[in-house]
Amino acid sequence: MSDRLYIFDTTLRDGEQSPGCSMNIEEKLRVAHGLSALGVDVIEAGFPVASPGDFEAVNRIAREVQGSIITGLARAHPKDIEGAAKAIEPAGDRARIHTFIATSPIHMQAKLRMQPDEVVQRAVEAVTLARSLAPEVEFSAEDAGRSDIDFLCRIVEATIKAGARIINIPDTVGYMTPFEFGNRIKTLMERVPNSDQAIFSVHCHNDLGLAVANSLAAVEAGARQVECTMNGLGERAGNAALEEIVMTLKTRADYYGIDTGIDTTKIIPTSKLVSQITGMPVQANKAIVGANAFAHESGIHQDGVLKHKQTYEIMTPESVGLNTNRMVLGKHSGRAALKSRYAALGTELDGDELNAVFARFKILADKKKDIFDEDLMTILSGDSEVNMERIKLVSLHAASGTGDTPVAAVELDIEGEILKATGEGDGPVDAAFKAIKSLVEPKGKLLLYSVNAITAGTDAQGEVTVRLQNEDFIVNGQGSDTDIVVASAKALIAALNKLPNMHAREVHAQYSGV
Ligand code: KIV
Ligand code: ZN
Repeated sequence: MSDRLYIFDTTLRDGEQSPGCSMNIEEKLRVAHGLSALGVDVIEAGFPVASPGDFEAVNRIAREVQGSIITGLARAHPKDIEGAAKAIEPAGDRARIHTFIATSPIHMQAKLRMQPDEVVQRAVEAVTLARSLAPEVEFSAEDAGRSDIDFLCRIVEATIKAGARIINIPDTVGYMTPFEFGNRIKTLMERVPNSDQAIFSVHCHNDLGLAVANSLAAVEAGARQVECTMNGLGERAGNAALEEIVMTLKTRADYYGIDTGIDTTKIIPTSKLVSQITGMPVQANKAIVGANAFAHESGIHQDGVLKHKQTYEIMTPESVGLNTNRMVLGKHSGRAALKSRYAALGTELDGDELNAVFARFKILADKKKDIFDEDLMTILSGDSEVNMERIKLVSLHAASGTGDTPVAAVELDIEGEILKATGEGDGPVDAAFKAIKSLVEPKGKLLLYSVNAITAGTDAQGEVTVRLQNEDFIVNGQGSDTDIVVASAKALIAALNKLPNMHAREVHAQYSGV
């Protein structure tokens, strides 16, 4: 059996299905370039028939991103498969169609309303059509974790015979346990007569917190592709976290003896890129990529690490890209240094794009002595937001102090019209939010407000995440600045910009916050 595990990243498809994580086309392209630099074997770029925007994103990624196989998801319907084939076509011999149909009794009866025989027939037709349109086809048996094993063997055999070269076994609802899931993969590989003609893949959700454990159990049983996402993003509780699977295999090479093609030193920059673009913060104690993952707090631990790092460190921070590049740039750094640092972080910048980012870099470098990689990623995300902004922050002044009512005055550019408002609140952020919201419709309900320091020091940039809901729409916005009130205002405006039908309020009278 091969000792190489293929990493299939679905951050741009399943990850994007996390509430509030939708990305625009430029943002998806940046994530795709980052994933390719990270060394993922397959990028699931989206679900092309879901919307014209999804189609275009997959199509542009297939055209512009090199190195990785590019795949698009398709239900087992000719329309989906033809759409996916068209979208991924520019990737040439790196194009893959990923088609799926549900195979569990509950999904077949309640959702598809199809008999098992019809499901097999539809799957075979889908794979046959996909095979005629793309060089490589992957078939997924949705909800395979809860499917009857005999039926699963039957549909897997039939789809391999129809031309699927990758067979994906999803635990769609995160129901499996590691021993059970590993056995399921082993049984399939042993019982399906043509199993040697396909690579077995798994796709685990994290509803019980077992997605990574289940994926690794499947790898031990013989699976050689794992579907995962950066930071474990994904539907509900998310998907298996790429960084945890990859670093487990690397750190415990003695046990698994399996390699991936991932450049692990790019894990932290990619994690930050995804977090900043999606607006989904990474919890501090998250394995591998959390802010505390390599921090030693207790005296006993610090003493041990100072004497010998391996007393409490099973992998080095450098191996995941942390601390290798402390303070690389400052206000005297030039364009070439900036371009080269971004290239190392997986983003190639040239021409106008480089000029725009360089200008933003200089503004930040004037305010802040040390520019870290995290700051560079923030500069990039700010730049992408500019393209889609209908509302822009022109100016903000806030005042607060003990015994005073906090007040804020804002000036916004809303589609070319300059509008002003003031607000009072419980604190300067609250006052600024009230002033901003008085100028726009819809306002959205605030679901989440969180603040993080991007780097250390009192001159660090604060990064604020705001999540808003308007009817069924949930959006995230992020903002960063060395001034936390300004960062908060930017985050709110970024989120407001993503709400559909955002516009200036009809009455623009001077507003005094309520
Ligand atoms: O969770 C799932 O079953 C999926 C499939 C479409 C692969 O995302
Ligand atoms: Zn999924």
